[in-house]
Amino acid sequence: MDLQLNDRVAVVTGASAGIGRATALALSAEGAHVVLIARRGDALRNLASEIERRDGRLPLVVDADLVERDSPARIADAVQRAHGRLDIVVNAAGAAEQPGQSLTEEVWQRQFDLNFHAKRRLVEECLPMLAASGRGRVVNFVGLLEPTVVSAAQAAVAACALWSKALSRVAAADGVTMNCIAPGRVDSEQVRRALPDDEAKTEFIRRRIPTGRLGAPQEVADLVAFLASDRAAYVTGQTICIDGGMRWSM
Ligand SMILES: NC(=O)c1ccc[n+]([C@@H]2O[C@H](COP(=O)([O-])OP(=O)(O)OC[C@H]3O[C@@H](n4cnc5c(N)ncnc54)[C@H](OP(=O)(O)O)[C@@H]3O)[C@@H](O)[C@H]2O)c1
Repeated sequence: MDLQLNDRVAVVTGASAGIGRATALALSAEGAHVVLIARRGDALRNLASEIERRDGRLPLVVDADLVERDSPARIADAVQRAHGRLDIVVNAAGAAEQPGQSLTEEVWQRQFDLNFHAKRRLVEECLPMLAASGRGRVVNFVGLLEPTVVSAAQAAVAACALWSKALSRVAAADGVTMNCIAPGRVDSEQVRRALPDDEAKTEFIRRRIPTGRLGAPQEVADLVAFLASDRAAYVTGQTICIDGGMRWSM
């Protein structure tokens, strides 16, 4: 399937690691000009060099802490100056802190700032450019929407999924689609931190994941590339799980 992303401009947050990094590689392989966003500038510049060697296009890099209030405007300005247009925003940056029944106000605030408000603010800032594109695409990463513990990150991504669905109904008039992806357990930095020893990982997979393995970032990136393409023009307002059939209740 030719996804025809040639010359589309795509902002990818969380591009220094895991799913965001794989997404930047996948979109660039399909012909898009990718803009790499995260705090670790060195990792972004290494990825930019890798993409330039492979695809012959040097991605724009913007080091940014997405919870800082001026980051969305700084990113949109950099994209406007470098490319003069924007077609795709992939909000892959995120992190989950430890769950628990008596989380502090600071934890709630941090988790909503990163996993909801940062994504919302970037999309709101970019929406005029996405509307001007006429085929704008937003993909927001969320997560499990079936709580088994009290998690501020889960509450924040649930807010993101609901906000995204609401905005998709308005943005559709300008040809912009807005979807969420909910990964199960994909092999990335945060999952390696959460399942550090092989025995615990094997047991988790045996009990929870019918397909018998963690997902690969590339598999998630392929879904992003489809949602970012014209082929997915009739898919909007959805939250799509990619989880190997993962189950929490036994
Ligand atoms: N992997 C999974 O199984 C899984 C499951 C459910 C949901 N998700 C969601 O899917 C998305 C990708 O997850 P992942 O596992 O690939 O993540 P990851 O490997 O842990 O990487 C997280 C990315 O987010 C960036 N980031 C974190 N805080 C940031 C901040 N304040 N400003 C800018 N960038 C920031 C990190 O970059 P820097 O550190 O360089 O800033 C990094 O690139 C996340 O939103 C995650 O919550 C993943």
